[in-house]
Amino acid sequence: MKIAVLRETAGAEHRVAATPETAKKYIALGAEVAVESGAGTGAFISDAAFTDAGASVGSRAEVIAGADLIIAVQAPAAADLPGAKAGAMLAAICSPFADRARIDGYAEAGIVALALEFMPRITRAQSMDVLSSQSNLAGYKAVIDAAEAYGRAFPMMMTAAGTISAARAFIMGVGVAGLQAIATARRLGALVSATDVRSATKEQIESLGAKAIFVDSVKGIEGEGSGGYATEMSDEYKAAQAALVSAHIAKQDIVITTALIPGRPAPRLISDAQLASMRPGSVIVDLAVESGGNVEGSRPGEIVEVHGVRIIGHRNVAGRMAADSSALFARNIYNLVNAFWDKEAKTVVFPADDEIGKGITLTQGGKVVHERLLAA
Ligand code: NAI
Repeated sequence: MKIAVLRETAGAEHRVAATPETAKKYIALGAEVAVESGAGTGAFISDAAFTDAGASVGSRAEVIAGADLIIAVQAPAAADLPGAKAGAMLAAICSPFADRARIDGYAEAGIVALALEFMPRITRAQSMDVLSSQSNLAGYKAVIDAAEAYGRAFPMMMTAAGTISAARAFIMGVGVAGLQAIATARRLGALVSATDVRSATKEQIESLGAKAIFVDSVKGIEGEGSGGYATEMSDEYKAAQAALVSAHIAKQDIVITTALIPGRPAPRLISDAQLASMRPGSVIVDLAVESGGNVEGSRPGEIVEVHGVRIIGHRNVAGRMAADSSALFARNIYNLVNAFWDKEAKTVVFPADDEIGKGITLTQGGKVVHERLLAA
């Protein structure tokens, strides 16, 4: 099997879908690896590092020619895969709901598109889950970005010139990113509190040494929620949450919001009036900004100031740490390939009805086959 590793073309995408480490592992499985020249530059990996690992380096057309599996971080359109053979697999973040025509294009070109972000949330798939690996880094980076923009220190400091009080950080949405944000803010010395709609997160927040701020008057989501995901809450819950947040947020210096609801716009958690109640110089990082935003007034790719509060809305936050995020992304894809590697055929084979294969396959045999797309 020939694996082609593409150079990313989307603006400001510095990640790469393979590293010399994973290239070596693919070769050890019996695959051939061809890397598009410059693919690793944004992640500080030279072409020479790939050739040292045993891969070949060439132009896009050269690496795609004869490739059985094409890997990328963000899936390019079929038109940008010159000479891709019918039946070739493309494993990448496919964003099918943002650009359905591109998915239809894969079907027409006979490409088998595998959407890595559709990886089922099951134990077996944890090591293949790009959303998890990237969210963890985004949660970390969000706190670092907030600390950089904050004109004060995070930890309490007792100095000869007097005492500086610790920053108060509030994390809204305690999934993978939120948990890492709690841990990072704690490590920097902030006084941390956090909230979520799923009751299972309460214990996780407390075990990280943060204070859990929860709506008690209306029932939230019991336990983990379906597949680990939250759903949209009732109007009654939203009103109770808004009252709770209003009372709490006025005393916070740093807020990191991470709340997402699959297939829906991100829930609005902070209103303009709540922003106005915060101390000037406070900082908010809206990690949900590309899904509609948790914060009123946040804008994708921008840092805006509202009522003296800075709202940071960086896109692709994990991509801002391209070396680490690429290393984890690359291992996620390798773990997928390795789990379904057929030693005899020396290729990837998904058994019929396998939950993972079914979960990520968007197109096959010239057709769109994924049930979420057929229903859309
Ligand atoms: P996510 O990115 O979908 O959402 C982030 C957080 O926002 C979630 O905790 C969600 O409950 C919360 N949220 C949604 N609406 C909210 C609202 N109105 N107010 C406050 N919070 C709100 O979640 P993520 O990070 O993907 O993880 C969710 C769960 O799935 C976790 O328990 C995680 O451990 C689990 N998971 C399991 C995996 C596996 O087993 N392979 C892989 C990835 C996650």
